[in-house]
Amino acid sequence: MAALTGNKSSHTQHQQFAKRLLQWHKTANHRLMPWKGEKDPYKIWLSEIILQQTRVEQGLAYYEKFTKHYPTVRDLAAAGDNQVFKDWEGLGYYNRCRNLLHTARYIASELKGAFPASYEGLLQLKGIGPYTAAAISAFAFNLPFAVVDGNVFRVLSRIYGIADPIDSAKGKTLFNELADANLDKKSPALYNQAIMDFGATMCKPAVPKCGSCPMQNICLAYTTGVVNQLPVKEKILQKKLRYFTWLLLEADEKIFVHKRLPGDIWADLHEFYLIETVAKPDWDTEEIRLLLDQQLKAEVQSISALKPSTQQLTHQKIMGYFFHVKLRFIPQALAGQHWLKKSAIGRLAFPKMLKDMEF
Ligand code: ADE
Repeated sequence: MAALTGNKSSHTQHQQFAKRLLQWHKTANHRLMPWKGEKDPYKIWLSEIILQQTRVEQGLAYYEKFTKHYPTVRDLAAAGDNQVFKDWEGLGYYNRCRNLLHTARYIASELKGAFPASYEGLLQLKGIGPYTAAAISAFAFNLPFAVVDGNVFRVLSRIYGIADPIDSAKGKTLFNELADANLDKKSPALYNQAIMDFGATMCKPAVPKCGSCPMQNICLAYTTGVVNQLPVKEKILQKKLRYFTWLLLEADEKIFVHKRLPGDIWADLHEFYLIETVAKPDWDTEEIRLLLDQQLKAEVQSISALKPSTQQLTHQKIMGYFFHVKLRFIPQALAGQHWLKKSAIGRLAFPKMLKDMEF
């Protein structure tokens, strides 16, 4: 496991995570969605198929439309192709709609209108993969199956500090095992809903709300300052052109320095606080201030942009963007990390584009 530290995630850590997650769900999760708490496997299935490759805000109207036009799986099965495709219009990925109809008709004619009440049974149905089978198993039948979607990858990779790419075979196995180990087997429905909502509203991709996160002291990414770098995607690592923004955080006349993780370019070299973006970044200083406030509860004194630079490696080109950020104090989240006087930085090995920087 390409963990940030050599630690093995332990049973107690899993329990802590699940306990805090359910507590957060009970007291602080205000996300309202019409399929929440739904027990009808048909409606759960509908919502999950609609939400594949679709944002919740867009999916909502379609969910309302489908449950209104087709309240049961038999109603959907009895509808004509043209009618159903017309209702799906605008959602895209029409294979989802084709499979939806196929499976509704199969359930109506072969299974007497009843969804299989087991994970394996659900997995046999066209258009239902491991994620959807786990979601229906847990939400409708309270069976102990953990959902593993983009939210779950992100949350677990950060909490446990796992830098294995989520789209590699090894990473997939690892995250599936971890998801299963964390699942609260007594409340799989609550747990699964909680982790998806937690990923969508707290542990967000770009600007996660670490400042008010209940996982702070058990989150390895947070306590080592690499929240922005997780999860890792193999596809990004292989991209020819990559965009790195480094924040040179300065407090108490010292600079935050981080040793790069294994598995990517420049392993074991040092760097500053990194944010990798999938596209060319277009930062304004307010955005950076907000990001540092939400992620690190860091109070910014001043921000100045430094000159961007590029570096051509054998297989990829790095576009580097730099900001010198003066903070009022060393943020608690990074207190245990390396903060070095400018004069000491030169003793460590840095990638070329960072070594030549003047600030
Ligand atoms: N995305 C897909 N299914 C979801 C669910 N049940 N809750 C929140 N987000 C989701």
